[in-house]
Amino acid sequence: MDLGIAGRTAIVCASSRGLGKACAHSLAQAGVNVIINGRDEATLAATADDIAADTDVEITPVAADVSTAEGQRALLAAAPEPDILVNNNGGPPRKDYKELTRDAMVDGVVMNMVTPIELIQAVIDPMVERKFGRIVNITSASVKRPLTGLDLSSGARAGLTAFLSGVARQVAASNVTMNHILPGAFDTDRLRSGLEATASMLGKPLDEFSAERMAEIPTGRFGYPDEFGKACAFLCSVHAGYITGQNLLIDGGAFHGSF
Ligand SMILES: NC(=O)c1ccc[n+]([C@@H]2O[C@H](COP(=O)([O-])OP(=O)(O)OC[C@H]3O[C@@H](n4cnc5c(N)ncnc54)[C@H](OP(=O)(O)O)[C@@H]3O)[C@@H](O)[C@H]2O)c1
Repeated sequence: MDLGIAGRTAIVCASSRGLGKACAHSLAQAGVNVIINGRDEATLAATADDIAADTDVEITPVAADVSTAEGQRALLAAAPEPDILVNNNGGPPRKDYKELTRDAMVDGVVMNMVTPIELIQAVIDPMVERKFGRIVNITSASVKRPLTGLDLSSGARAGLTAFLSGVARQVAASNVTMNHILPGAFDTDRLRSGLEATASMLGKPLDEFSAERMAEIPTGRFGYPDEFGKACAFLCSVHAGYITGQNLLIDGGAFHGSF
């Protein structure tokens, strides 16, 4: 399917590895020029090479912390008026909610709620004027299904979802859409480091523990980042103009519910 977005420009935040990288790669395969981002310059440069290997678009690496005003300025300097914005970031570390300090809570909310809103504020007006804009926010399945120790992450992302629910309706008539993708367990560095930490805490071999986790998922496996990236690219396509304000849960059926 031709996604109809070749020649467009996308800022994909936190995209040197994992789900963000998969989104940037799928958009590039659809002919979109991509601004990619991460804090580690060497990893970011390697990702630019990976994407360049099978695409023919402009890839602009911006090494910066997206949670900071300076990092956001650098991203927007690379593409002041993007057609597509994919919001992504790291998440706050796993912690018992009773141990969270005020500073830690503010940091978590800045990372997963304030930062994407600030970027949307910066890019939305030209999207509305041009009558084309696609915004996708990578949140988490934990918005729907709580995970102990990730309460701050879940809360900040749910806050973002609610905040943008009204905003999405304000810009929908201008062909600007705003959707969220909620990953379940996807095979990325983040998932693997979490599995390693929990397996070692439980004193189990990593393979055995990973197999147990996969068995809890109806598909019997973890998600491939490329599957996530392709879904993101579709939501950014010309064909997705009637999909807005939605939460797309991609979790292999792990969340048990009819809706
Ligand atoms: N994978 C899953 O199963 C899963 C499930 C639920 C939710 N999520 C959420 O989905 C998002 C992506 O997860 P992932 O699994 O793809 O993580 P990942 O494999 O750890 O990759 C994270 C990416 O974000 C970049 N990054 C992190 N903090 C950044 C910052 N402050 N500024 C700029 N770039 C930053 C990293 O590069 P640098 O470190 O070099 O900056 C890296 O490119 C996270 O918010 C995660 O909590 C993931």
